[in-house]
Amino acid sequence: FVWHDPQGSKPTDEVTIPEIEGYGTDEWTDWSWNSMLIEGSHCREIIDNVVDMAHFFYVHYSMPTYFKNVFEGHTATQFMISKPRADIDNGTNYDDPNSHLSSDASYHGPSYMIDRILNEVNGMTIETILINSHYPVSDNSFLLQYGAMVRKLPGLSEEENNGIGSQFITGLEIGFEQDIEIWKNKSPIDNPLLSEEDGPVYQLRRWYKQFYVDVEDVTEDMTARFEFEIDTTRALQSWDQEIAENLAKGAPASADA
Ligand SMILES: [Fe+2]
Repeated sequence: FVWHDPQGSKPTDEVTIPEIEGYGTDEWTDWSWNSMLIEGSHCREIIDNVVDMAHFFYVHYSMPTYFKNVFEGHTATQFMISKPRADIDNGTNYDDPNSHLSSDASYHGPSYMIDRILNEVNGMTIETILINSHYPVSDNSFLLQYGAMVRKLPGLSEEENNGIGSQFITGLEIGFEQDIEIWKNKSPIDNPLLSEEDGPVYQLRRWYKQFYVDVEDVTEDMTARFEFEIDTTRALQSWDQEIAENLAKGAPASADA
């Protein structure tokens, strides 16, 4: 991985990004990779998504039923369980309206996230590893790089397994493209007024700050363990209502229509 420290230190074992188990064996499909230059936004904006429960509904078309963050040391984690929106089909639920997705996503340092996703769909469990990484190009642009691989399902052909992988990636791309539109048009706000569904934005930004100061200036409040679970009850109630209204208007619509 890339390590950049203006003070010239070397990475320690402690901050080494963990290896992905099984990578390189034929248990997994090939990676599908994408790179995009995002202009008009500082890469801090992508980090805000770690705590942003509500954007999963609006941007990624899923409904989080469980959402928790843990920040500790140089890692920031988001645990999420979600179900698909009945009014929109973006492909990531593999056409199963009763599917469930659980995602365990950790940033290892400021810009490299490993996300392990388990999709319970049509009686199967589809396991995906998503890498979401970026590096700054300027104060106002960054290069986003992401990719995924799927654990091959026994009994399926190579082609079918790759099909499952690329369907999932296409669904993720639809969501990412919408994230990107937001990043391009989002103004940085240092003291946002938060709603209940916004999550611990301030604590996340304190965690993120450790990567922008000299190591002797890293303070306890940037690295101390912090846990926060959002109560999704109220959000789910209003989303259910919104979905019912959309269905009454003739949804489901395809997300890329
Ligand atoms: Fe997002």
